[in-house]
Parts: sequence; structure tokens; C-alpha cells
Amino acid sequence: MKGIYKAVEVYEPGRLRVVERQVPEPGAGQVRIRVKACGICHTDAATVTGIYPGLTLPRVPGHEVVGRIEALGAGVSRWKIGQRVGVGLIGGEDEVCEPCRRGDIVNCQNPVVSGVTVDGGYAEVMIAEARGIASIPDELSSAEAAPLLCAGLTTYNALRNAGLRGGDLVAVQGIGGLGHLGIVQGIGGLGHLGIQFARRMGFRTVAIGLGRQKEKLAKDLGAHVCIDTAAEDTAAALQRMSGARAILTTGTSGATMGPLVSGLATRGNLIVVGEPQDQIQLNAFPLIFGGRSIYGTLTGTAIDNEDTVAFSVQENIRPMIETVPLEQAADAYAHMMQGKARFRMVLTKDGAALSAPAH
Ligand SMILES: NC(=O)c1ccc[n+]([C@@H]2O[C@H](COP(=O)([O-])OP(=O)(O)OC[C@H]3O[C@@H](n4cnc5c(N)ncnc54)[C@H](OP(=O)(O)O)[C@@H]3O)[C@@H](O)[C@H]2O)c1
Ligand SMILES: [Zn+2]
Ligand SMILES: [Zn+2]
Repeated sequence: MKGIYKAVEVYEPGRLRVVERQVPEPGAGQVRIRVKACGICHTDAATVTGIYPGLTLPRVPGHEVVGRIEALGAGVSRWKIGQRVGVGLIGGEDEVCEPCRRGDIVNCQNPVVSGVTVDGGYAEVMIAEARGIASIPDELSSAEAAPLLCAGLTTYNALRNAGLRGGDLVAVQGIGGLGHLGIVQGIGGLGHLGIQFARRMGFRTVAIGLGRQKEKLAKDLGAHVCIDTAAEDTAAALQRMSGARAILTTGTSGATMGPLVSGLATRGNLIVVGEPQDQIQLNAFPLIFGGRSIYGTLTGTAIDNEDTVAFSVQENIRPMIETVPLEQAADAYAHMMQGKARFRMVLTKDGAALSAPAH
């Protein structure tokens, strides 16, 4: 029916449902996007479980959104109707807090957060702030561009802002462990892109956390070396290669992150992008003796996203995706949470139905 669109909302913690809503008009400084694709990121769990600070329900999750602009709010001059654009997690800064005034807008204290403070992309329509959208180049399909807007952006920014030099040893943790035997499963959305970026940025690239059967996949993604955490001591293996200048942790287990500090070269950095529920335990000695550091980094801005997609086109980097229709968002989300996604679930109009629904 004209004027109505479908969305998938979290209506109580842990529960998603398909609803129909009136198509809204964009307000001043906003655009209305007809959504073509939306990736399912592990961070969506913070919306679905209701734990994201300040979240109120119902809320439509989704922050890897690609679509075409179909309406412009008052005062929007930079964008045109019909243009293909994307939205990531940070959907707009407030421009007035101290980090914003210092130009550090990704760390805005009152940001518009897609799928958290405003409805996101598990929908046919989304309202976005014009200052928070990125242009999507023609070389990328909507479904393959979507995961680049959070999983891609987060790993691309973390690596390019780490002060590394070409040839440095860089390890990416979180592309799957031995929990899933037999077939390649559960390789993370962030991890499988992080390996590609690390390789294409010119680093000696190590993939951490593999079962043997995943080694070929990690090598196909660009890893020079794979470390199977079940078969060998990761820190010792990295030290045999003189230690990593940086380790990018994209997994969801804090317990596995702390010991990685011992695998860093002197003055190396453990860069945390995965957000585990459990604590990261640290031993002070490798931090002190060798001046090693650990820090976190939060996704990126709209213009960083334009850099991410441009670099991906330039270096032929693509996410590996499974497309699913919007109506099956709950199953696709459960699939991702169970580590069954290969390797990013993307909601699209013409997605194939999930053959084995996750619940
Ligand atoms: N910093 C940021 O701005 C930012 C942005 C986006 C996402 N994130 C966070 O990054 C993390 C990954 O997101 P994603 O979308 O890539 O998730 P995902 O596709 O579900 O992948 C999860 C990853 O965690 C690994 N993992 C799970 N349990 C593990 C364990 N016990 N030990 C080691 N690794 C384990 C998985 O490996 P297996 O194959 O072994 O299961 C997989 O590689 C999430 O915590 C998410 O919230 C952060
Ligand atoms: Zn995300
Ligand atoms: Zn701000």
C-alpha cells in the first residue's frame, strides 16, 4: 500500500517483529532513504537485548544501511533524490560537545546512533541525517557495500590510524576458532574484512584464531600466516616472528584478548574493536617492559566511510555475504549470534530465504 512501509522492530528485549508503518517525511537537515540492503552486525545485539545505554523500545536496529534518497528535508542541498548513499553506526554528530568542537566527531558525546537513538536499516525506509550519510560508488552492489559501512569502516579506520608502516607485522584476531569443526563457519564480519584491509595496506598479515580447516580461507582473504590458537601459544608464535606491531581484536571474548599483549613487539599496540561482555585481564609486565599499549577504537564517520568504500573498490576488497529477505531478519540475526553467518548476513529485498531458520 502506498504510504506504508515494512520495518523490523525490537518490541521487547530479545524479540523482533515485522511491523507496518506510515512513511515519514524527513525533517530539516534529513533525508529519507529507500533501503536496498542492511548488514547485520554483532553490535545490533546491544539494541536487540536492550542493553545499549539510553535505548528505548520499540526500536528498528541496523547500521550498515545502503539505499537511494527519495526525499530531502528542508535545507539539504548536498544530496540529490535518487542518489545511492549509506549510513553507518554514527549517524550524525551534535556539533556542540567538546570532542566535536575539537574536530573529534566520532567521539561526539550526543551522537545520532543508527538503530539506537533513531530507527535503523532493518526496514524498507529510513530517515537519516544528511550530515551522517556517505556516497556509495557504482562499482559496489548495495548488498556488498552495506557491510563495509560498519565492519569495513571499523577495521579499515583502526588499521589506517594505528601509525603503522608498510611491511609491519599486523595480526587480526577474531576470524573464527575451533568451536565449529568440519566446515568454515562463524568467521566474523569484522575479522574477514580486517584481514583483507591489513594485507592490502601492505602489512605482513597474520590471522589468529583458526582451526586448520579455516587456514585456506584466511589465506585466500590475504593472510600471510595463520596461527591456530588451539594448537599453539599465540603470543609465542608471534614472538618467533619478532612480535606484532599491532594486533586488531575483532572477537567477542575478552578472556582471549589480554594474553595477546605478550605477542606484541616493543611499543606495539593491542587495538580493541571487538566488544566482549567479559572483562579483559591484563598482565602489567609486557605493558611496562617494552612500552606496549592497549586502546579501543570506535567505528568512524561518514567521510571515513567514503574512504572505506573507495579503498575497497581500489583494492578489490569485498565482504563475503549471505543475503536474506527483510521478513527473516529475526532468523538472520539469530544465525549471526550463533556464529553461523558466512560471513555477513545482509537483509535485501531479493535475499534467498534462510533454508534452516535458526530457531
Ligand atoms: N569498535 C567498533 O566500533 C565496533 C564496530 C562493529 C562491531 N564491533 C564489535 O566487534 C565484535 C565483532 O563483530 P562482528 O559483527 O564481526 O561479529 P560476528 O560476525 O558475530 O563475529 C564474532 C567473532 O567473535 C569470535 N568469537 C566468538 N566467541 C569467541 C571466543 N570465545 N574466543 C575468540 N573469538 C570468539 C567469532 O569467532 P568464532 O568463529 O570462533 O565464533 C567471530 O570471529 C562484536 O563484539 C561487535 O560488537 C565493534
Ligand atoms: Zn556495527
Ligand atoms: Zn558532539
